[in-house]
Formats: sequence, structure tokens, C-alpha cells
Amino acid sequence: MVFTSFTYRVVVILATILTCNVAINNSELSTIQLEKEALLNSSWWSNSNMTNNTSDHCKWVGVIPSEIWSLRNLDILYLSKNNFTGRISSLLGNLGNSIVSLDLSHNRFYGQIPSTIASLTNLVYISLDSNQLSGPLPREIGNLKNLTKLVLRGNNLIGPIPLTFGSLAYLTDLVLNSNKLNGSIPDGLTQLTQLQFVDLSDNKLSGHIPFGIKSYVGLTSLNLSYNNLSGRIPPKIGGRILVQLDLSNNNLSGIIPDSLFPWDISYWQSSRDYVDLSYNNLEGPIPHNLQYLHPQLKGNKGLCGAELAYTMVVTEKCDVYSFGVVALEVLMGRHPEEILSLSSSSSSTQNVMLIDVLDSRLSPPVNRIVKQEIMLVSTIAFACLRSKPKSRPTMKRVSQEFLKQKTSFAKSFGEISISELRNQDMYLFDEHDA
Ligand SMILES: *[C@@H]1O[C@H](CO)[C@@H](O)[C@H](O)[C@H]1NC(C)=O
Ligand SMILES: *[C@@H]1O[C@H](CO)[C@@H](O)[C@H](O)[C@H]1NC(C)=O
Ligand SMILES: *[C@@H]1O[C@H](CO)[C@@H](O)[C@H](O)[C@H]1NC(C)=O
Ligand SMILES: *[C@@H]1O[C@H](CO)[C@@H](O)[C@H](O)[C@H]1NC(C)=O
Ligand SMILES: *[C@@H]1O[C@H](CO)[C@@H](O)[C@H](O)[C@H]1NC(C)=O
Ligand SMILES: *[C@@H]1O[C@H](CO)[C@@H](O)[C@H](O)[C@H]1NC(C)=O
Ligand SMILES: *[C@@H]1O[C@H](CO)[C@@H](O)[C@H](O)[C@H]1NC(C)=O
Ligand SMILES: *[C@@H]1O[C@H](CO)[C@@H](O)[C@H](O)[C@H]1NC(C)=O
Ligand SMILES: *[C@@H]1O[C@H](CO)[C@@H](O)[C@H](O)[C@H]1NC(C)=O
Ligand SMILES: *[C@@H]1O[C@H](CO)[C@@H](O)[C@H](O)[C@H]1NC(C)=O
Ligand SMILES: *[C@@H]1O[C@H](CO)[C@@H](O)[C@H](O)[C@H]1NC(C)=O
Repeated sequence: MVFTSFTYRVVVILATILTCNVAINNSELSTIQLEKEALLNSSWWSNSNMTNNTSDHCKWVGVIPSEIWSLRNLDILYLSKNNFTGRISSLLGNLGNSIVSLDLSHNRFYGQIPSTIASLTNLVYISLDSNQLSGPLPREIGNLKNLTKLVLRGNNLIGPIPLTFGSLAYLTDLVLNSNKLNGSIPDGLTQLTQLQFVDLSDNKLSGHIPFGIKSYVGLTSLNLSYNNLSGRIPPKIGGRILVQLDLSNNNLSGIIPDSLFPWDISYWQSSRDYVDLSYNNLEGPIPHNLQYLHPQLKGNKGLCGAELAYTMVVTEKCDVYSFGVVALEVLMGRHPEEILSLSSSSSSTQNVMLIDVLDSRLSPPVNRIVKQEIMLVSTIAFACLRSKPKSRPTMKRVSQEFLKQKTSFAKSFGEISISELRNQDMYLFDEHDA
């Protein structure tokens, strides 16, 4: 259900909608006059020092009068960005099943979320974002079967994410970040296959990331950063439309699964700011498609590639791919990400010449032996950068090639293109290479 589908039957009670953040939309014309009177009669309106000039009510303060909870025909209650305080009354439940959208965000409400919220069975949208609510998440929220967006970010909520949330089958947005939630992410949440936007960051969640998270085929953004999650990263998260993945500042361990990033490098180049695996306990080789995301991988002591590029310390866990990156980096005087990004379309490398990518701060090589060595190193580097790991040489083979010192170019140094280096089949290694 989208909100635009029922705007035709929505009438504004207060004339302030355009200038004021307070809006009460109503569905049943017959009762509107009565409800308007009740509102105007309420202490909220008439006992304040404000005039009836509605723009004076844009910064409402104080507590919501209890009269508001008897408006049984409200579709939408939007009281965002005022200065309301006090507890959210358990009379909230009296709003019953006509209300579809409840927004009390950006106020100063405190106390617990009343469990009577479960009576608002047709709610599609709840935002209590940025208040000072405390206590646990009511398990009764799981009764709100039509809920698509649940936004409780920026409060002081504690305790676990209730298992009942697993029955919110239409949920697309689950935004619980910046609270004090603890316990683990319930496996049952993986039943929520409609989820698109999930932010559980900045809590105290522990345990592992449920492997069933692969079922979120529509997921575009997942932020689990700043928790205490441990265990391995699941081999698959969401589908191919995931554009933001932030798992930073946890205690995740093990390798980064190659299968997590099936996209080619050009995809990540446009999304590079949105993958963050930094500050965990990850180790092993960096997946091919993440090779140039060094800042977003820092703070993982066991991860090679990232460490290698900065420290040149080779550990036995390091992939030859990382060697290829470093070798090119030395020749080019900068990280070779542009060259790597060309790998997906070989036609674009046709006209890029080796001599043009060398470190421009150094004068071009003149000595024949130096030229030959550059050709040798760059040819081996590109062999190490082949996208299929099986066709890359082993580190042992690389060292043998260096000892042999043999290149097979008939062309002069200045005429060698990157694509020729890449297609050198003398370094096509087969699986039997030892
Ligand atoms: C209330 O209804 C008006 C007119 O249909 C609409 O423009 C407005 O967006 C609605 N208010 C809310 C908070 O949805
Ligand atoms: C509002 O107050 C007026 C005057 O006191 C009264 O006549 C009317 O019934 C009240 N309306 C409601 C809905 O309470
Ligand atoms: C209303 O105004 C009076 C006098 O100006 C003041 O004493 C009182 O505190 C005000 N009440 C509120 C709720 O602001
Ligand atoms: C505001 O409107 C209400 C209801 O129409 C009325 O009773 C009240 O006297 C008005 N207040 C002022 C200050 O005009
Ligand atoms: C209502 O109050 C606002 C701000 O206090 C003022 O600019 C506006 O002229 C007032 N409108 C009327 C009709 O008095
Ligand atoms: C909200 O209320 C607090 C406490 O009474 C006050 O310090 C603050 O200035 C108010 N903010 C606005 C926007 O009225
Ligand atoms: C949920 O939405 C559907 C259609 O959008 C509606 O028929 C149903 O009454 C709503 N409420 C509940 C509790 O399912
Ligand atoms: C969550 O925090 C509460 C105190 O806020 C504590 O009693 C409870 O044991 C914690 N649960 C877990 C699973 O850490
Ligand atoms: C994830 O959440 C953290 C903390 O809430 C925030 O600082 C970070 O910017 C978010 N990441 C993304 C990619 O939005
Ligand atoms: C993080 O989780 C581990 C268990 O995985 C637990 O031993 C540790 O106390 C937790 N740390 C914090 C700060 O909650
Ligand atoms: C991180 O996880 C390891 C086990 O994988 C555990 O030994 C360590 O205490 C955890 N660190 C923190 C800060 O929770």
C-alpha cells in the first residue's frame, strides 16, 4: 500500500499543513467537524497562551492532550519535529484500526513504547525516530502485519530484537540504529524477504550475521556497523541490487567470501564509498573485486593485500593477485586501480601504452636492460591479475620467471600496449603448475 492511494479521502483538519509540521489527516468526512471541535476544545489548543493563528502552533511544546487518542478516524498522525515531551500514552491503542501512518519522530518523548500499539492493526508506517524512548521493543509490534516501514532509530531502546518481528512479512525498511539493543539478530528476520533497507548499526548486537540473509533479494542497503557481531561474513548477502554494505567496527572473522562481491570492478568504482568492512578481524586474501578498496578494509590485521600494498610485507596467506597490484603500483607510482578497472572491457585497453602509465615523476627508461626488466615485471604482474584465479601463476612460478629473465617482445618498448601485455600467452599458466 502506498500513501498516495488514499490521499483522495484525506482531509486536513488543521489549516496549517503547509507551514507547520503538525498535520492530522482524516478519512471520514462525517466526523471531521466533531473531531475538529474536540481538538479546538482541548487543553492542547485553548489553554495554551497561543492565539488561533495556526502558524503559532508550529513549535508545539508540552504533552499531547489525551483527546487526540480518541480520534478514531485518523488515517495519518504526523507530529514530527515539534517539541513534544512526556510519555506516549497507552491510550494510543484507542486510535484503532483506521490509522495507517504514525509519525512522532524528532520530539522529546520518553518512557516505553506502549504495547497497546498492537491495536493499530492497519499501520503501514511507524516512525518514533529521534526521541528519548527507553525500555524494550514491544513484541506486540509483530502483530502489525501490514507494516512496511518501522523506524525507531535514535532512542535508548534496550534488549533484544523480538522474534515476533519475523512475522512482519511486508516490511521493507527496518531502521533500529543508534539504540542500545543487544542479543543476536534473530534468524527469523531472514523470513522478511521484502526488506530493502536495513539499519541496525550502532547498537550492542552480538552473535553472528544470519546466513539466511541471502534471501533478501531486494536488499539495497545493509548497515550492521558499530555492533559486536562475530563469526564469518555470510557467503551471500541479498541479491545483485545491494549498493550499500557497512559491516565495519564489529568483530567479524574469517575470510571475505569472494562470492559476496560478484560485481565487476566498474560497478564498485561507482559505489566504492558504500562498502565498508573496516575494523574487524578479517583475514586472508582480498576478493578480486575489492582490491582497490583499501581504506574500507583497514583495521583488519590478518587481511593481506591491503596490508601488503602499504607495508610490502608478504605473508604466506597472500594471493599472487596482491603481488600483481603491488608490482604495478611500483612501476606506476600510484595504485593501479584505473588499469584494473579496464580489465572488464579489453577494447578500452587497446590504446593505452605501457610507457604512458609508468611513474611520470621518473624520467623514461633509456637503458635496454631496464626496459626489458620493466617489460618482464609488468607482464608477470598482469598474469597475476588475471580474473580467473586458476590462470594466475603461483608465487613459486613467479620467482622462477624472474630468475629466467626472458621476455618475448619483438616490438620496441615504446610500442607495447597494456592489452598486449595482458594477452601474453607465454605466461598462461595451467593448473599443473607447481
Ligand atoms: C494530508 O492530506 C493532504 C491533502 O490530501 C496531503 O497533501 C498531505 O500530504 C497529507 N498529510 C500527511 C501527513 O500525509
Ligand atoms: C466544544 O466546546 C463547545 C463549547 O464549550 C461545546 O458546545 C462543544 O460540544 C464541544 N465540542 C466537543 C466535540 O467536545
Ligand atoms: C502563559 O503566559 C503566562 C503569562 O504570560 C505565563 O505565566 C505562563 O507560564 C504561560 N503558560 C505557558 C504554558 O506557556
Ligand atoms: C480560538 O478558537 C477557539 C475555538 O474557535 C475559541 O474558543 C477561542 O476563543 C479562540 N482563541 C483566541 C485567542 O482567539
Ligand atoms: C500569524 O503569526 C505569524 C507569525 O507570528 C505572523 O507572521 C502572521 O502575520 C500571523 N497571521 C495572522 C493572520 O495574524
Ligand atoms: C524544546 O524544549 C526545550 C526544553 O524546554 C528547550 O530548551 C528548547 O529550546 C525547545 N526547543 C524548541 C525548538 O522550542
Ligand atoms: C492490510 O492490508 C490489506 C490490503 O492492503 C487489508 O485488506 C487488510 O485489512 C489490512 N489489515 C490487516 C490487519 O491485515
Ligand atoms: C542485554 O542487556 C541487558 C541489560 O540492559 C542484560 O540484562 C541482558 O543480559 C543483555 N542480553 C544479552 C544477550 O547480552
Ligand atoms: C552505518 O551506520 C553508521 C553508524 O550508525 C554510520 O556512521 C555510517 O555512516 C553508516 N554507513 C553507511 C554506508 O551509511
Ligand atoms: C562481544 O561479544 C562477545 C561474545 O561474542 C562477548 O564475550 C563480549 O563481552 C562482547 N563485548 C561487548 C563490548 O559487548
Ligand atoms: C572477538 O572475537 C574473538 C573470537 O572470535 C574473541 O576471542 C574476542 O574476545 C572478541 N573481541 C571482542 C572485543 O569482543
